[in-house]
Amino acid sequence: MSTLVVGNWKLNGTRSSVLERVAFFTDKLNEFTEINIIVCSPYVYLEAIQTYLQEHPSVLQLGAQDLSAEFSGAFTGEVSGSMLKDVGTHYVLVGHSERRRWYFEDNALIARKWLSAYDTGLTPILCVGETLEQREAGQTMAIVQAQLEQGLQHAKQANEILVAYEPVWAIGTGKHASPEQVAEVHGQIKSWLTNNFGSSTASVLYGGSVNPQNAQSLFAEPKVDGVLVGGASWDMEAFVEICQQANAR
Ligand code: PGA
Repeated sequence: MSTLVVGNWKLNGTRSSVLERVAFFTDKLNEFTEINIIVCSPYVYLEAIQTYLQEHPSVLQLGAQDLSAEFSGAFTGEVSGSMLKDVGTHYVLVGHSERRRWYFEDNALIARKWLSAYDTGLTPILCVGETLEQREAGQTMAIVQAQLEQGLQHAKQANEILVAYEPVWAIGTGKHASPEQVAEVHGQIKSWLTNNFGSSTASVLYGGSVNPQNAQSLFAEPKVDGVLVGGASWDMEAFVEICQQANAR
């Protein structure tokens, strides 16, 4: 299974700064054929990126940061999976902790979003992870397991599943989980997936302050199938370095 490097640009960028990154990455990353590289852009720039990618052969693949649980109808402001598909998107984040925290998304809604993505032919990346209080109270795996159980309730086979373990306390804080902490939780997620889906082919990514300084130690951990990179994916050189390290794995 090839390593995945997923960039999450969050609420950043302009049309030109987004396209500047896509052009830079296309130029610098095309030789990295051993890995899968995905950038999750704000909705409004997806189509412009897709147009660029059609005109310039690139290893980059397109992802979105969220989607509606609904397919169509009177849901003002929503963007459906089929709309994302229509503009060339292949992947979509589901249940990112910022969605859970600031937009009150719960596991039930996230499960519907997962299904909506899956049914439209997108690959959902389910984000899970505990807060610092939950970790300190020894609840990490109970929280993560509940997020997996509910978030993946519509999944049928392991090879459909992509999970990103993102401890909330490590996102955007500069504090990343240690390789030992990552290995422990990834091991538990993988056992849970094997027990529930009967196979170990699901991929588990780590996210939370991944940068060029800590990426190598994460890639050295066999239970890490890839990384979800926020802040450092907006930094052009940093993202290229992380991809280089993934490719050299
Ligand atoms: P970060 O974000 O790398 O800036 O911590 C990760 C994420 O939100 O996916």
